Amino acid sequence: MRVVVTAGPTREHIDPVRFLSNPSTGKMGFAVAAEAARRGHEVVLVAGPVALKTPRGVKRVDVVSAREMLAAATAAVDSAPRSAPLAFVGVAAVADWRPRRRAAKKLKKREMSGTLELVRNPDVLKSIGARLRRAGRKDAVLVGFAAETGSPIAEAARKCREKRLAFTVANDVAEKGSGFGSDSNRVAFVRADGSSVRLPLMSKQAVARRIVGEIERLLVD
Ligand code: PMT
Repeated sequence: MRVVVTAGPTREHIDPVRFLSNPSTGKMGFAVAAEAARRGHEVVLVAGPVALKTPRGVKRVDVVSAREMLAAATAAVDSAPRSAPLAFVGVAAVADWRPRRRAAKKLKKREMSGTLELVRNPDVLKSIGARLRRAGRKDAVLVGFAAETGSPIAEAARKCREKRLAFTVANDVAEKGSGFGSDSNRVAFVRADGSSVRLPLMSKQAVARRIVGEIERLLVD
């Protein structure tokens, strides 16, 4: 199987020295990529700016912005052999917005108005799903994450339906020891109909084993 994984944050630059971003470290996405490669799958890892080593056997493509992430993810799914199963796992915390303009040179404080005009970024997961459906790859398994601080299950089910995912990994990032930057995670696997399986707090490697195992199970069914 080819497994394409997005990981880490994106950076949306205001000028060469300032950007909008979030606290994703890439640990969860890299764990998924490492686990898929360990099980013998062909893995392309599209990584935002993070300080992690590339897992053994993984092809890594480094990107900075959401638009670069979409371009790299598109190339990875387009080059996937039709004869092999395909899975796409969106673990990255992609910035939803970017500044309308990126200044070529560092802005002086006096050049900044105090208001930043933003425009929407593409949704990588949604765009890849639509592309695969257009290409007739209805067999591909799409998995998303949902970082939430409120009611993760309901929100994850909504994302599952909206982005037509096999399942969403709901992540309560407000919980201690879980979410951004931690070595462990507490997640639930949520389907479009709202049914869910809650997992206990476990290492991100253990969560990755459950995710890749579930994808393999769906492809066999
Ligand atoms: O990297 P770590 O420090 O280990 O932290 C892990 C994590 C908290 C980042 C990870 O477990 C997680 O929850 N990732 C998803 C974060 C997120 O931004 O979720 P979201 O609810 O905004 O997005 C929902 C889904 O759509 C995600 O699969 C996301 O990759 C995808 N998305 C979102 C916006 C966008 N423009 N493009 C996307 O592809």
